[in-house]
Amino acid sequence: MEQQFGAELKDLGEKNLLWNPKSLESASEPWSVVSGKKVLMFCSNNYLGLSNHPEVKEAAIEAVKKYGAGSGSVRPIAGNMALHLKLEETIARFKRTEDAIYYNTGFTANSGAIPAIAGEGDLIISDELNHGSIIDGVRLTKAERAIFKHKDMDDLKRVLEGTKAKAYRRIWIITDGVFSMDGDIAPLDKICALADQYGAHIYVDDAHGDGVLGSHGRGIVSHFNLDGKVDMEMGTFSKGFGTMGGLIATTKTIKKYLLNKSRTYLLTGSQPPAVIAASIKALEVLEGDDALVKKLWENTKYFKARAKEIGFDTGESETPITPVMTYDESKARDLSLKLFEEGVYALPIVFPMVAKGKARIRTMIRADFSKEDLDFALEKFGKVGKELGIVK
Ligand SMILES: Cc1ncc(COP(=O)(O)O)c(C=O)c1O
Repeated sequence: MEQQFGAELKDLGEKNLLWNPKSLESASEPWSVVSGKKVLMFCSNNYLGLSNHPEVKEAAIEAVKKYGAGSGSVRPIAGNMALHLKLEETIARFKRTEDAIYYNTGFTANSGAIPAIAGEGDLIISDELNHGSIIDGVRLTKAERAIFKHKDMDDLKRVLEGTKAKAYRRIWIITDGVFSMDGDIAPLDKICALADQYGAHIYVDDAHGDGVLGSHGRGIVSHFNLDGKVDMEMGTFSKGFGTMGGLIATTKTIKKYLLNKSRTYLLTGSQPPAVIAASIKALEVLEGDDALVKKLWENTKYFKARAKEIGFDTGESETPITPVMTYDESKARDLSLKLFEEGVYALPIVFPMVAKGKARIRTMIRADFSKEDLDFALEKFGKVGKELGIVK
């Protein structure tokens, strides 16, 4: 066995596909300590800096003092703390939906909710670039599957037209809201119109829209003014909201169904009080003030415009996820290595995370970067980009 796994690892290593993550040795701050070096944190999903927000941290500390370090059980048995219920109420209020259900992670929300809502006699129609957790959720269903070309509404219409030939029980269209590798936004308004026309339901994964899009960071549904038109809005606390956990904002009936049918909800211990209290506080901070979201967009616009002026190609991005395209895999790796030497931590994204020949550095802009931080990064990108012949 050792030999077999060893051989596979060697093969991955030879193909340059082995992960060897650096270690974060401080809080996730604009300037973080990464593997012993103080660097500008340019690849974290902590868009708003909420993971290190004083009120959010204080809420976690108080919850540990009052409720302890763990919940002691799964939600359906003895681990359904009043705090979990308060969080679900807070999510529903924030997302402006009837109700909400909280999962331990976004991954388990997708891999647990999708197999619960779709089965034999149903069809799932998925954007070809959907996140891996959606793909795994779909793999666990007995539903039929169809793929539409990335954000291509003619192709989605083609698939929906084909459904007329068969009497499906339910048709689900599932899409990422913001696509995590390119930072582009799903045309949810158009998807809703098509869903209406063909009697389909919508499940949107708003992991990278939470805290980023819409009023006060309420997400993609708010961004497109589609309140009440999306059946299930999935999201995560692990990015813009700064903590941990998955969410599905939906109706009372679907919530009740999921909490009776969804295995990744039923069969796993519940998140500890500190995480739950911090998550409630993160949403309260955003409800009270959207200054952080505004600052995130100000920083995003500034960085994108200056990066383009320097000559970088930032791809299709419409959000703080800003790819700096190198296309060539080894150039992306070299750019990342040299940037780290210069004090900027930004990771390369290469095949198989993106198609071959579409390599890039994926920069993640944050609200808590100062203009000086952004200028520092731009200067380093420009310097190293020139050395590597990426810009002139
Ligand atoms: C689009 C998308 N969906 C789901 C997830 C999973 O979320 P979580 O980190 O909460 O498991 C991620 C994060 O990696 C994501 O980018």
